[in-house]
Amino acid sequence: MLTNLKEQPKDKILGLMAMYRDDPRPTKVDLGVGVYKNAEGVTPVMRAVKAAERKIVQEQTSKAYTGLAGDPAYADAMIDMLLAGAVERDRLAAAATPGGTGAIRQAFELIQMANPKARVFVSDPTWPNHVSILGYLGIEIVKYRYFDDETRAVNFGGMMADLADVTSDDVVLLHGCCHNPTGANLTLTQWQSVIDLINEKGCTPMIDIAYQGFGDGLEDDAAATRLVVQSVPEVLIAASCSKNFGIYRERTGLLIAMSEKAENTAVTQGNLNHLNRQNFSFPPDHGARVVTTILTDPELKADWMAELEETRLGMLALREQLAAELKRLSNSDRFGFLAQHRGMFSRLGTTPDLVEKIRVDNAIYMVSDSRMNIAGLNAQTVPVLAKAIVDAGV
Ligand code: LMR
Repeated sequence: MLTNLKEQPKDKILGLMAMYRDDPRPTKVDLGVGVYKNAEGVTPVMRAVKAAERKIVQEQTSKAYTGLAGDPAYADAMIDMLLAGAVERDRLAAAATPGGTGAIRQAFELIQMANPKARVFVSDPTWPNHVSILGYLGIEIVKYRYFDDETRAVNFGGMMADLADVTSDDVVLLHGCCHNPTGANLTLTQWQSVIDLINEKGCTPMIDIAYQGFGDGLEDDAAATRLVVQSVPEVLIAASCSKNFGIYRERTGLLIAMSEKAENTAVTQGNLNHLNRQNFSFPPDHGARVVTTILTDPELKADWMAELEETRLGMLALREQLAAELKRLSNSDRFGFLAQHRGMFSRLGTTPDLVEKIRVDNAIYMVSDSRMNIAGLNAQTVPVLAKAIVDAGV
């Protein structure tokens, strides 16, 4: 039986991780996978996470199963952080999932269960795993224009023109903040136009929010998501704690499904529970418990927010430094977009050939679509990258 299996296409982000690991050059720089690293190249365990873990170890008396949707206190804490009362709690069903990816997978399956005719509109480009999971589930994908290769900003006209094709059966997948892979984001005014179009067409928005706190701050990064839940009847939200709590390997995500009326919530919740049961039964608990402990303890929460803010400001400083260095070396403003982008990533907007040349010549690793993880840099490697970019003729 197993001999029938065909080799699977390689995931380009994970493939790059392996190539980087095997590169013997001591000066190598990893701008590939979306993992935060500090100036020493370390992905630290955040202070509040350590403290919460110590508390859990001391106080936890049982590791019996929680519930199919995880501990309700986790959903409450996350909903509070993300939506801050923007919508009535009794319209929200929620389930803990293994990471943000788990939330996305469960959301796509929920869409398929609710409406087998639904197509999912995704930004071009989007996180490659969106496309891969949709393809795996056999859900039709429609791409909408998103990134302008010239300006490296959002091609909003193209986006709206392409979204004009959605029907009431369809789902529009949007990145809540810190667009992956481009780093280019909608303004709140543009979000409002997208919301108006969604309401006009009667389609359902789905928001993937994996970087809350990495862009303009914890509150600002949730502003678009809050606006959406206040403005449309139904929403799906896939949230991740991997990045903002730095608990990547704990696989801590949440799927939220907002119904138009509170009387729908019980059935929606039942479907989320059912999906969890079919796919993995009970969701992982440790990361969720860490997050809940932090968000419900004012001191831990304040310390976590302070460290998250340091992280965010550090990435912003690297962006500014890179943009300034490129301006100096290229004698032009054409890289100014790097300081405008937000989140961990920026798409440089160059060809796979030049990305490859930069890797071969300088041991600098970025994804072939020219996505760079800004957090992979430090003050010393920024000038090295800037020189490599200009030398390659980008
Ligand atoms: C990324 O985009 O690099 C991260 O979300 C990690 C992943 O799983 O691809």
